[in-house]
Amino acid sequence: MTDLAPILSAAEKDFDQSLERLFTLCRIPSISTDPAHAADCDRAAAAIVADLSSMGFDAKARPTPGRPMVVEHYTPKDANAKTPHVLFYGHYDVQPADPLELWKTPPFAPQRRKDADGIERLYGRGTADDKGQFMTFVEAARAWITATGSLPIKATFLIEGEEESGSPSLVPFLKANRKELSCAVAFVCDTNMWDAKTPAITTRLRGLVHEEVTITGPRIDLHSGMYGGPAMNPIRVLSKVIAALHDKTGKITIPGFYDGVSPLPAATKKQWKALKFSDAKFLKEVGLTVPAGEKGKSVLEQIWARPTAEVNGVWGGYTGAGTKTVLPSQAHAKFTFRLVGKQDPEKVLKAFQAFVKARIPKDCKVTFSGRGGGSPATEIPENNPWISKSAAALKAEFKRDAVLMGSGGSIPICRSFKDILGMDSVLVGFGLNDDAIHSPNEKYNLASFQRGIRSWIRIIGGLAS
Ligand code: BES
Ligand code: MN
Repeated sequence: MTDLAPILSAAEKDFDQSLERLFTLCRIPSISTDPAHAADCDRAAAAIVADLSSMGFDAKARPTPGRPMVVEHYTPKDANAKTPHVLFYGHYDVQPADPLELWKTPPFAPQRRKDADGIERLYGRGTADDKGQFMTFVEAARAWITATGSLPIKATFLIEGEEESGSPSLVPFLKANRKELSCAVAFVCDTNMWDAKTPAITTRLRGLVHEEVTITGPRIDLHSGMYGGPAMNPIRVLSKVIAALHDKTGKITIPGFYDGVSPLPAATKKQWKALKFSDAKFLKEVGLTVPAGEKGKSVLEQIWARPTAEVNGVWGGYTGAGTKTVLPSQAHAKFTFRLVGKQDPEKVLKAFQAFVKARIPKDCKVTFSGRGGGSPATEIPENNPWISKSAAALKAEFKRDAVLMGSGGSIPICRSFKDILGMDSVLVGFGLNDDAIHSPNEKYNLASFQRGIRSWIRIIGGLAS
């Protein structure tokens, strides 16, 4: 096996430049969900192409009906039939930055800051999710090239720009380029460590399905004195729908919702118990004390192995300053459902719609305006050789065993990699629970970036041996 010392030291020497390359990317507000930022997404894709090209790679930003896809294929000169070919996946799009007033420094002016606890962190939207994360493998590849002139593996880089809005263009893109994109395995850098000292490989992700509901009562907004009483208020109807979603034990009441959800195997339960996760500490960090999921299930089980029904936003009527005696014509809410096991996104959506319709009184009507789609949960077999190789590399870096863990989040593409390209994913990431992804003051620890790069250098080395 290649001596990794010169490669690790090349990364160390170049670290300030690595940070600068990351910050250049973080300055671009590549928010995929907002069409007003389409040009910024194009700019981010172009910046990544420039970055990869500066390493001698031949990367391209490929157009899609949505945001461009950055693709690069690398074959080392001395490649032979045994040289493994792996794919590295990340996403350059980010979540919207609002509420802006809660940011201590502007979201798209990334900053390296030493906090009062003595820990250095990188602040800004995308520093963690996912620019800081995917740049760890990009910078690791750069260190390999700098120190040895090449990578010891065949590598395809796929950096998309629509992950945060459900990857609508990625599935058709995978189908259209099946042969080109099929590799032995996909490495995804978009998940967390177990804690700041302990690396992790994520083997379960929840699925996701969205819906948006509008309930209309009277034809127009009304004076709540002239009509209040006889006129049905759609916010009242919507509140009842929302209140009916969960029973007293935290179970979701939609008929058929749990179809495809199996109880956690005893062995897995035992494995998770051994992780000694503190429910109290986890909740305390976000200002809470009482788990609100299904009664009798541990917090880890609630996040990793149970589905949810969440209201993400509710609006309607007057919400400005002061009071307005209005009886609104409409009430709206956005919902998402996290899915596990074999739950079928389409069936869950239909069951939810029926649940809502059954609660709409005469004189009100409901419309659903979700974009459809959705993705089922992903479970990755833990006994695959790519996982053992990655675990060994992580252990060499952190001097601790990698935890095989679940995640409550969703990365829909992992399922598509499997279903369309027949590839398993290995999810290795360096995020932490307190990174505040999707929130104000998102950050990535400097150590995550640094050790992330070092870990990928080792993983790449391990793949070649
Ligand atoms: N990186 C996250 C998923 C994640 C978060 C994995 C925390 C592990 C730990 C990803 O970018 C994300 O946020 N995905 C969205 C999916 C989506 C379709 C909008 C999610 O989970 O909400
Ligand atoms: Mn992400």
